Amino acid sequence: MQTGLKLLEVSNKLHHSVTMAEKMTSKQVNITAEQVEALFRPGEAHRDLYASQDIFRAEMQHLFRQCWLYVGHDSQVPNRGDYIATELADQPVLMVRDREEVKVFHNRCPHKGTKLVLDAAGQAGPFFRCPYHAWTFRTDGSLRSIPHPQGYDEERLHESAAGCGLSPVENLVNYRGFIFARLASQGIDFDAFFGGSLSTLDNMIDRSPEGRLSVAGPPLRYMHRCNWKMLVENQTDTCHPMVAHESSAGTVVDLWSRIGGNSKKPMAVEIYAPFLSDYSFYDKMGIRIWPNGHGHTGVTQSIHSNYSEIPGYFDQMIAAYGRERAEAILSESRHNTVFFPNIMVKGPIQSLRLFKPLAADRTLVESWIFRLDGAPDMLLERTAAYNRLINAPTSIVGHDDLEMYERAQEGLSAGGNDWVNMQRDMQADEMNFDGEKVVIGTSELQMRNQFDAWRKFMLESIQNADHKAGAGA
Ligand code: FES
Ligand SMILES: [Fe+2]
Repeated sequence: MQTGLKLLEVSNKLHHSVTMAEKMTSKQVNITAEQVEALFRPGEAHRDLYASQDIFRAEMQHLFRQCWLYVGHDSQVPNRGDYIATELADQPVLMVRDREEVKVFHNRCPHKGTKLVLDAAGQAGPFFRCPYHAWTFRTDGSLRSIPHPQGYDEERLHESAAGCGLSPVENLVNYRGFIFARLASQGIDFDAFFGGSLSTLDNMIDRSPEGRLSVAGPPLRYMHRCNWKMLVENQTDTCHPMVAHESSAGTVVDLWSRIGGNSKKPMAVEIYAPFLSDYSFYDKMGIRIWPNGHGHTGVTQSIHSNYSEIPGYFDQMIAAYGRERAEAILSESRHNTVFFPNIMVKGPIQSLRLFKPLAADRTLVESWIFRLDGAPDMLLERTAAYNRLINAPTSIVGHDDLEMYERAQEGLSAGGNDWVNMQRDMQADEMNFDGEKVVIGTSELQMRNQFDAWRKFMLESIQNADHKAGAGA
């Protein structure tokens, strides 16, 4: 009861400070460490974490800026001038190939702010040309030319923000083709942030006999009217598939039991059927967590463990890596790896899902697939089939989940209970671990791990902001 009253007070204060902050910038919100702490009880998260637009803005400002976010894959920009436009949290950015290097810039003309590119992907040629006043910028971001330049004092222009050209996102890492960026100029470095979770990316890439992936086509895009955290939590929620997907995957299982006989299962049945596995299967699957909110389901087995062999693939892997190493790579059947805050990777399926937060109740899901360079086409066929059957807006499985998220988003506005529960298999002092920790597969430890990281990065950023404000006062 006391906590409820405190939250009401917190919520009012937050609202007031938002109004004040909005006078300064439309995106910033003032939030205190006390307000962050009030959003949690052991194994419980306050509904404002999903429903409040003020909390959403605070997440963009504090959490997402501190984390390493996925921008894109370097195979999307193979030639100089190739670019993609995307968003990092609430920031529009563009990624462009400049000679050997891939660079990321804020997607904003330095003259008057016009978005420089609108297309999701394109080829700029040797320079970008702003459509408003035709200033041009080289692919390294520098200002190349201004039409009718006589009106400018060269020295003054040179000293201005506009004269510096495009604003780069400076903290970039190309991890074996995957480009990540951190928006905050100071903060945790890439290796420390991801730690052991990079083993999932390594395993997915090593599945290529050439040790290299290429993006296959544009992603499937699917708008969800729910908070981004619901999607991320669902990735390691192993107590829902046999329930929420009963009507879809269950129908496939039922149909095949009647018509399949002894014939080989078609690819679609192989993909759908394991969703209906029972609780003991998911228990045994295991969950592994790493610090900073990362973790995965499928430590010992997963719904991807028993797919048919693709002819010729294993031989190619042996030729590339030797038998022992090839067996080790392919014996991993990790299910879903969450890279906190908003990425999920499926190694055995070669896919990456990006949960792009748009508002407290809007998330755009992009499901990307990859070709394993040097591997048989049949693998890409299975990857594409999985994406279409499970992740597409037309999927019979994907909208089972969507229905649950949207119901939750609506249900959380109901009174009577401010809390979302995630106490399954909760242990005392469970976040005190080194390197990694493995638990039973139906545990909700990974959801708690995510919120532990959420709280940590929010508090660090708020304290840093307070410190800076204090130093400047
Ligand atoms: S706004 Fe881009 S050239 Fe003027
Ligand atoms: Fe699901």
